[in-house]
Amino acid sequence: MKIAVVEGDGIGHEVIPPVREMLAMLRPDIEFFEIEAGYGRWQRTGDAITDDDIAALRTADAILFGAITTPPAPDYQSVIVRIRKELDLYANIRPVKGSRADLIVVRENTEGLYSGIEKIEKDTACTVRCITRKGSERISRYACMLATRRRNLTIGHKANILKSDVFFRDICMEEAHKAGVWVRECYIDALCLDVLLHPEKYDIIVTTNLFGDILSDVAAYLVGGLGLLPSGNIGENHALFEPVHGSAPDISGQDIANPIAAMRSGSMLLAHLRDEPSAALIDQAIEAVLGKGIMTRDLGGTAGTRDFSRAVREELERLIRTG
Ligand code: NAI
Ligand code: MG
Repeated sequence: MKIAVVEGDGIGHEVIPPVREMLAMLRPDIEFFEIEAGYGRWQRTGDAITDDDIAALRTADAILFGAITTPPAPDYQSVIVRIRKELDLYANIRPVKGSRADLIVVRENTEGLYSGIEKIEKDTACTVRCITRKGSERISRYACMLATRRRNLTIGHKANILKSDVFFRDICMEEAHKAGVWVRECYIDALCLDVLLHPEKYDIIVTTNLFGDILSDVAAYLVGGLGLLPSGNIGENHALFEPVHGSAPDISGQDIANPIAAMRSGSMLLAHLRDEPSAALIDQAIEAVLGKGIMTRDLGGTAGTRDFSRAVREELERLIRTG
């Protein structure tokens, strides 16, 4: 099995190496290869990622990704947005799971306001929000597939204002009815509040690109912040797993980042490759360490990234040994 590792920038260099070690402990058959990408590389070489790197990523069974800093340069194309588009990773799956919530944001990942169709003139800047039938059908089918295994589906949109969301909503509704899924709809702004007030109502939430990006950060509040949320970017032929958070330049290099979001992304990667037992061991090891009161600063603890990661690795080792 071949896994590509892209640490990226900032805390990507701190939270990804421990995950790689955990994957290697669980699956000695994994062959890792590294791709350097991001702002650091762009500053050094003028390229944030090359066509050859994209070609290499295509050869991986799955990609483990950290986070990349977006430089303040108008001509710079986001690396993660490029990878999502080139590998057609259309479904961004963001589970938000904790004592107060157990929901999954299913975000369309290749179009909408991130379609890259933009025009900047002297007095006007314009971004085209392109929503296609194909894009809407496949993301709603993915959401329905998850909802049939769980409880219900909510469509988050702004169809009272945006015609493109009337189009998106209608397609999602149609797919939900075809799949026999219990479905409701909600305006995205109201949904951002209601998900915080009544998280127990929500299970699978399907929405467009930017709305899903915002909603998943909002929902992070329910479970203790961005340091905990993993994600999968899934396509027909490729898959990439990354924490929801970014490169966090405000805390990078200080050994205080929470590696749980990255670890859970590793767990999602294994589950995607149909190794659910190993995925469950990662989740169990994290819970066991948290249960001992060992946590990073963002959760009110004092453990550093390295100490917390070591504790989880030791727990994982114990779980592997005791079967
Ligand atoms: P961010 O997610 O990096 O940080 C937001 C806040 O959460 C910061 O205060 C940070 O310290 C905290 N935080 C994030 N992850 C944490 C962790 N694991 N443990 C403890 N605290 C954590 O978002 P921000 O600041 O908006 O963006 C920073 C850079 O990251 C930007 O250049 C942005 O473009 C990039 N970014 C990249 C993403 C990606 O590569 N997929 C996703 C989001 C942002
Ligand atoms: Mg985001």
